[in-house]
Amino acid sequence: MQFSLSEKKFYRILSIALAFVMLFTLINVNSIPAQAKDNKKIVILYFSATGTTKAVAKKIKKNTNGKLIEIKAADAYTSADIDWTDDNSRVTKEHNSASSPAKSSVRPKIKNLSAIKKAVKKADVVYIGYPIWWGEAPHIVYSLVENISLKKKTVVPFCTSMSSGLGNSAKNLKKNAIVSKKTKWLKGRNFYDIPSQKKINKWIKALKVNKI
Ligand SMILES: Cc1cc2nc3c(=O)[nH]c(=O)nc-3n(C[C@H](O)[C@H](O)[C@H](O)COP(=O)(O)O)c2cc1C
Repeated sequence: MQFSLSEKKFYRILSIALAFVMLFTLINVNSIPAQAKDNKKIVILYFSATGTTKAVAKKIKKNTNGKLIEIKAADAYTSADIDWTDDNSRVTKEHNSASSPAKSSVRPKIKNLSAIKKAVKKADVVYIGYPIWWGEAPHIVYSLVENISLKKKTVVPFCTSMSSGLGNSAKNLKKNAIVSKKTKWLKGRNFYDIPSQKKINKWIKALKVNKI
């Protein structure tokens, strides 16, 4: 088959263009963030009264691309409600209701529990975030773990506080949670301040839970 000069030119340009398309496709595949290639379903649940834990949860979402869901109290906590210096505030009453939140009968209702249940059902990894209140997870986080099944899930607790650490807060939550032998309940981590995205990324990478 004989090609004219202009046809030859056309095919040369076409093959160069195709080579470029292939090259860019390869570059794009390799630049997909690691988490986008992962195939575990991730849900990030958090309760936050003043926004600190929420900020951490958002950074976890940015890294994992998981589904971010706030644990919403049916009766939202006002700033007066969370005044721990007031003996008559809602949180002080919750705190004084038993020797620990695990033993208390106070279980604040969660407004969006059914949406949370639905998302958790489909998830492999469930991050659970909360602020430290008197060294423990708030009572509403107990309302959560006592009402959703975490059987066979990998659970990653995380929290924020002013000065206390994680303490036994995550361990104590597990005691009341609906779990099975196949539940992988990680130790968890406390953040004293809103960490950088880099710090969050490093922590999540070290957990090695988001990939199959
Ligand atoms: C009722 C209450 C109790 C708290 N108890 C503690 C505590 O025991 N130790 C501590 O370091 N911080 C304590 N804090 C501070 C919070 O843990 C901290 O400000 C947290 O980052 C708030 O998170 P949030 O903004 O997501 O609600 C307490 C705060 C409140 C409102």
